[in-house]
Amino acid sequence: MRKVYRGRDIEVSFDLDICIHVGECLRGEPRVFKLDRRPWALPDAGEADAVAQVIELCPSGALQYRRLDGKPQEQHSGMAKVTPIRDGPLMVVGEIEVKREDGTVEVLPRATLCRCGESEHKPFCDNQHLHNGFRAPGVKLKIHLSPVRAQLDRPITKLADPRRLD
Ligand code: SF4
Ligand code: FES
Repeated sequence: MRKVYRGRDIEVSFDLDICIHVGECLRGEPRVFKLDRRPWALPDAGEADAVAQVIELCPSGALQYRRLDGKPQEQHSGMAKVTPIRDGPLMVVGEIEVKREDGTVEVLPRATLCRCGESEHKPFCDNQHLHNGFRAPGVKLKIHLSPVRAQLDRPITKLADPRRLD
């Protein structure tokens, strides 16, 4: 379920169910996104342009934003782009309509879709590929890989109980 955090110039929304915990948000805007604070997302703790920039790096589409200051919303022109991530999901960037298993439909600007076949939240990746030894060619998730994940090769969920995020 998507939660909304409203700031003065920008509104941030987050859907934990599709977050793949690579931590681009925590690394890019540590004042805005903090796992040990409630609410964990404080849009006004950063400058709206910077918050938007970091959110656009969120590969899963878990984080989205809506500008409240009249500046442009996230936009993608042309066809959506699909990139296989090495040993992981398909990363899609561009406006896509995704149908969940329960039949609900959501339009997302970014998404990471399961290709190992074992996600419990299909069509989204839920990091099962980290546990089942999935191997497949693709690009390294270089710019999106957090220091936490790079060092420990495990999702951030292991460092904090994600169900407590609000
Ligand atoms: S997918 Fe990564 S950048 Fe997006 S919300 Fe989850 S941890 Fe943050
Ligand atoms: S590719 Fe990540 S759960 Fe399948």
